[in-house]
Amino acid sequence: MLRVGLVGAGLIANVHAGAYAQLAGVEVAAVTDPVSAKAADLASRCGAEVLPDVARLIDLELDLVDVCTPPHTHAEIVIAALDAGHNVACEKPIARTLADARRMVAADRRTPGLLMVGHVTRYEADHRLAKQLVDDRQVGRLRRVAHSTTTSAPGWSEGGWLADPRCSGGPVLDQGVHSFDYLRWLIGSPAIRVHAVGRDTAAGPGSYVLTTVRYADGTIGVVETSWAHPAARGFRLQAELVGTDGRLAWSYDDLMSGVYCSADGGTEWYDALGDRGFVEELRDFTDALRTKVRRSPVPAAEATEGLHTALAALESLHTGEAIDLVTWEPE
Ligand SMILES: NC(=O)c1ccc[n+]([C@@H]2O[C@H](COP(=O)([O-])OP(=O)(O)OC[C@H]3O[C@@H](n4cnc5c(N)ncnc54)[C@H](O)[C@@H]3O)[C@@H](O)[C@H]2O)c1
Repeated sequence: MLRVGLVGAGLIANVHAGAYAQLAGVEVAAVTDPVSAKAADLASRCGAEVLPDVARLIDLELDLVDVCTPPHTHAEIVIAALDAGHNVACEKPIARTLADARRMVAADRRTPGLLMVGHVTRYEADHRLAKQLVDDRQVGRLRRVAHSTTTSAPGWSEGGWLADPRCSGGPVLDQGVHSFDYLRWLIGSPAIRVHAVGRDTAAGPGSYVLTTVRYADGTIGVVETSWAHPAARGFRLQAELVGTDGRLAWSYDDLMSGVYCSADGGTEWYDALGDRGFVEELRDFTDALRTKVRRSPVPAAEATEGLHTALAALESLHTGEAIDLVTWEPE
């Protein structure tokens, strides 16, 4: 049995726990969260032990430490777990700052465990099929890739960290990093130039943003991120790839578009896409541990590139200038 320790017991930790429950030979053995009631609730549903803090959790014998805390806390927890000899899964974005991400990459290189970053978009069935078709040259040489995710301001975060740009980076980092990581992976060429325009709205600063990205091979990326859409609209995703030999597109007007109507009149919305790839992501991560491959399925160094692009988009938003990613370093 592969034993997982969950750090954090918030929204995504609960999604991960649900995904682990669908994987044979994997159990959540331990949970920690400073909000002890959340840790106790999640642990009781998993049959896991509650630990009072991260230090005690990483003292346990575990096969994987899964870090599901806000981005500005990732580096300290991930590095401590790697230094203790653990394999680590870390939710996206890898960190809030490039300096933290680079410390994590360095810790990954000097320690024996694997570090994998939860870029779940790579595991969503439609996104994965598109990658396969591009790799098989079905659309020819890519010219332009557009990726749009729009929703209302998220309201669930513990202590409101998502609404604080110093912790979350707003939608361009929190949400856009999915797009920037996916485009880099799909295109297979590094981002070299970034320009963003945006609007501050009642949903916060930079809550509606359009970013263009130039990749080294000439492909153009267009990334739309919004937390300024009406709540009733749900979470909308649109993607379009245009290459020399064709076009590929998919969209959902609402990710949570499945509905269950019970006989007693209740209605429950659910994610018809199967929790958006989390089961496949965590299956890939745990399979990598079992087969003892020495390469992370989503390496920290790759996740750092997506972070760099998102931070450059924020800088462009701030200065109004295009950012040359080859030379730009955040302060
Ligand atoms: N892949 C996705 O689609 C997706 C979706 C949502 C969130 N996320 C990511 O998951 C992470 C968590 O987001 P969330 O929505 O679950 O937030 P959340 O606020 O719902 O939960 C975070 C939990 O971490 C706990 N926590 C904070 N500091 C801690 C520490 N030092 N040690 C242990 N626990 C600590 C908080 O008390 C809280 O319960 C973020 O990095 C976020 O970007 C990813």
